[in-house]
Amino acid sequence: MSDTHFYPIKIKAIEPATDQAVVLSFDITSDLKEKFQYQHGQYLTLKFNINGKEERRAYSLCSSQVTDTDVKIGVKRVKNGKVSNHINTVLKVGDTIDVMPPQGHFTVALNEDNKKDYYLFGGGSGITPLLSILKSVAEVEPKSRVFLFYQNRNEDSIMFEAELTALQSRYSGQVFVTHILDEPKADKKGGVFGMFAKKSYNWSGEIGRIDSNRASKYINENRSGDGRPEEFFLCGPDGLMNAVESALKNKGIDEKHLHREVFSSAQNLGAASKGGAKITATISGKQYAVVLQPKETVLEGLMRVNADPPFSCMSGACSTCMAKVISGSVKMERCLALDKSEVENGFILTCSSIPTSDEVEITYDV
Ligand SMILES: Cc1cc2nc3c(=O)[nH]c(=O)nc-3n(C[C@H](O)[C@H](O)[C@H](O)COP(=O)(O)OP(=O)(O)OC[C@H]3O[C@@H](n4cnc5c(N)ncnc54)[C@H](O)[C@@H]3O)c2cc1C
Ligand code: FES
Repeated sequence: MSDTHFYPIKIKAIEPATDQAVVLSFDITSDLKEKFQYQHGQYLTLKFNINGKEERRAYSLCSSQVTDTDVKIGVKRVKNGKVSNHINTVLKVGDTIDVMPPQGHFTVALNEDNKKDYYLFGGGSGITPLLSILKSVAEVEPKSRVFLFYQNRNEDSIMFEAELTALQSRYSGQVFVTHILDEPKADKKGGVFGMFAKKSYNWSGEIGRIDSNRASKYINENRSGDGRPEEFFLCGPDGLMNAVESALKNKGIDEKHLHREVFSSAQNLGAASKGGAKITATISGKQYAVVLQPKETVLEGLMRVNADPPFSCMSGACSTCMAKVISGSVKMERCLALDKSEVENGFILTCSSIPTSDEVEITYDV
């Protein structure tokens, strides 16, 4: 059972990653070290009180437990975003914030004997869990190779550029990074006052977007051809993820080797809920009961009666609110964080679940 309590953690360092993003390092005291052990690709949930309202958000760890001494996250500003801007502009070194221990399934077990190829497709802040995975694989599996295809808008928006370059040299022949930019900065040259000048770029990498064709070509060009096992990790904007996923499906890649992490949020989950269903839930050994109101999800009903259920993104994208159905049934309106076998075994994301039976019994203690 994962620990879904919050612990006060001091910020040890804040470093700019770009002009729109920062990297936070946490000072994990020795009494909390064990609770904050993590796997590459997992995330932390941070809790804030902003303008009198509690806000929780998930942030993937960009550090690796096997190569980094500090526990770190990278946070990119979202336009009008409450928490990402708070972190980028208000937080200071030495501040203490509430942090839930690591969670998440965007990971795969590593073994020093493995000889695998890992393909990581990322965009923007989606690099954070991919960086953690890249470093961990490179260090733990010397016979495996890691290919990162990383999409950004322009040169200024590339997070961890220097670290990625250093990792390519450190793990030469093992780690391969390809950058691609939508809109590299143009340098107009020649012509009368530059008016008839042709656009030229200082950027020597790829230009455009990772679409299905590019993703497919990237894999074909890098494949070893010796039939070694492959894993695919995707984290970025919806368009990028959908394009890569369709390329992988066309190649017949088995779902179990395809791993996705979605950062985007969703609104109005629960809108279709009619209300009236009785929910009984076990949370940390205690029993709670609630009759749902119209438009309420299972999680929202339990929050209304102060049952303190665990949650983070409220969008069906992380797995903090996961529970197991004991009896009755629910429909999930958005489920981006559980795999097929977990769903078949009765696991649900309560933040996106609405009942389809009059009574539902669930447990969070799984
Ligand atoms: C498992 C998981 C891991 C995550 N890891 C990271 C990470 O490592 N680094 C990171 O920067 N973010 C990460 N996120 C996203 C993060 O949790 C927040 O959603 C993000 O910082 C926006 O929060 P906010 O309070 O600033 O915006 P909000 O105030 O919640 O939203 C403001 C507006 O922005 C839109 N919006 C919200 N999130 C995004 C987004 N990601 N992209 C574009 N538009 C958005 C909303 O729909 C809304 O219109 C992760 C999310 C999940 C679920
Ligand atoms: S709180 Fe993130 S999936 Fe429900």
